[in-house]
Parts: sequence; C-alpha cells; structure tokens
Amino acid sequence: MFQPIKKAVFPVAGMGTRFLPATKVSPKEMLPIVDKPLIQYAVEEAVSAGCTEMVFITGRNKRQIEDHFDKSYELETELFNKQKTQLLEIVQSILPKNVSCIYIRQPEALGLGHAVLCARPVVDNEPFAVILADDLIDAPTGALSQMIGVYQQTGNSVLGVEEVDRSQTGSYGIVTTSEKDHHLAVNHIVEKPKPAEAPSNLAVVGRYVLTPRIFDLLATTQRGAGDEIQLTNAIAQLLQYETVLAYPFEGKRYDCGSKLGYLQANIELGLKHPDIGEAFRQYLQQQSF
Ligand code: UTP
Repeated sequence: MFQPIKKAVFPVAGMGTRFLPATKVSPKEMLPIVDKPLIQYAVEEAVSAGCTEMVFITGRNKRQIEDHFDKSYELETELFNKQKTQLLEIVQSILPKNVSCIYIRQPEALGLGHAVLCARPVVDNEPFAVILADDLIDAPTGALSQMIGVYQQTGNSVLGVEEVDRSQTGSYGIVTTSEKDHHLAVNHIVEKPKPAEAPSNLAVVGRYVLTPRIFDLLATTQRGAGDEIQLTNAIAQLLQYETVLAYPFEGKRYDCGSKLGYLQANIELGLKHPDIGEAFRQYLQQQSF
C-alpha cells in the first residue's frame, strides 16, 4: 500500500497576463465558468479524489481566493434572514467541513516549478497532487481521481497528458513514452518545443501526482525558459531516479488560461447547467450569428 495523497497544491500566483484587464486585480483562478470560479472546480476535483488539505500558492492578489473559501458571516446571515435556503446551502457547501485550506505566499512569480517548491514546508515528505485550475477538466470521474488510482497501483509520479495539435507544442511540456506494465512510462520530457522539434504531440496538462523527491530537484533547478524555474526541468531530472508515468485521463479539458478555451468552457458547461442549460440551448439555436 502506498501513502495516501491528502494534499493538493494549487499554484495561483501567476500574472494571468492573457486575461488583462480582468486579471489586473483578481486572480485568473477567480474567473467564473457560468456561476463558479475556476478554483472551486479545481478544489472540488481534489476533494472528490480524497484530498483533505488544500495548499494554495498565492501571489499579490490572494485575498479573493482566501475569502471565497472562508465563511462569509454577513452574506450567510442575510440569506438566512431572508430564508433563501437554497442559496445559503450553495454558499455553505463550497468546502466540506473536513477539508482545510493553507495559504503560502510565493514572494516572486519565478515560475510554476518555484510555486510548487513553495509548498515544501507543508507537504514535506509526502506524495502530493498539483492542480492548475486554469486547465478545467470536465469528466464523470475527476481526472485527479483517475491519476491517484494509477499512483495507488504503482507508487509512481503520474502526469496528466493529452494529445494536442502539433502546432501547439510550444505551449506545453511534451513527453515521449513507452509501455511498461500496462502503463505509459515517460522516457523524455521537454518544455515548450517548437512544432518542428517536438518529439511527439503528447502534452502535459495541469494535473500532476508527484513524489516528494521533486522538491530536492526543484531546489537545485536553474532558471530556464522565461527566466523561470520550470517544473518540467525538475521532472526531467526525476526521470533519472524514478519511473514517471504519463496518464491520458478521460474527460474534456478546456484551456481556461486562454480566451478561446475559456469561452468554450462557458458555452459547453452552460449548456449542461441544470438551471439554464435548456434555455441557453434554445437561445443558441435561434441565433444566426
Ligand atoms: P501560466 O503559464 O498560465 O502563467 O501559469 P500565468 O501567469 O498564470 O498566465 P499568463 O500566461 O500570464 O496569462 C501556469 C500556472 O502556474 C501558476 C499560475 O497561477 C498558473 O496556475 N504560476 C505560474 C504560479 O503560481 N507562479 C508562477 O510564478 C508562475
């Protein structure tokens, strides 16, 4: 039996420049898809995968995320007094009672690898999950649950992967793999290769299950592309010590860090929404665009 994964790390300290001016004051992870912020989808995925400690790596604009997961006395009293019980229930069920939140400040936006390293004092010597909330994955069984299932069978780090159009390789960590004991073992990983130089079109997206050795490697990883400490480079080193698996999760991913992916997610999740889905479908059918 391998150690259970209880801690999920959410790096939310990026600048979110692709969404300016919306992200001038609010973090990108607070952008809503229909009626829920991206970060809440991510936390729900971690909770349904069995995680009970949510570790947020925050930056200059942490307030809104802290407030979102905190009790809101004024709002709850107001809803209670007006007997708006359904809305009260929505607000009170954002976070289950057995789940705790920990906030760590990333002093400078030195990259995703550095953000993950900031979680070390809390995660210490345990395997852990990383979720990038701007990669929203809509799946009947959450992508992280699927990946933790693989970790529990193997004890290996697991990277969530999907095939991307070759023209897009420059936006992702790209892996090559070979089959090992019914899983896909990573042979190589490279950060953001140009399409002509990409060794495959299998891209790492925002879900990781990592063994704690990654912290030692991140601590010595030099700044790479964009003068940032790249998680990909530390994973490349991890391959020298441990098997790392790639896992093509089931589910549809929306790149909500890009405007197009964000709009696609709003349309598709809007169509599925229990309150407005049907009316939205009718509206779209009536349009000639
Ligand atoms: P991105 O590469 O999407 O960067 O970060 P970004 O700053 O959020 O967005 P753009 O490209 O400027 O629009 C990937 C993830 O890593 C986190 C981000 O919050 C996002 O979840 N991150 C990135 C950090 O937490 N710290 C960093 O220093 C960099």
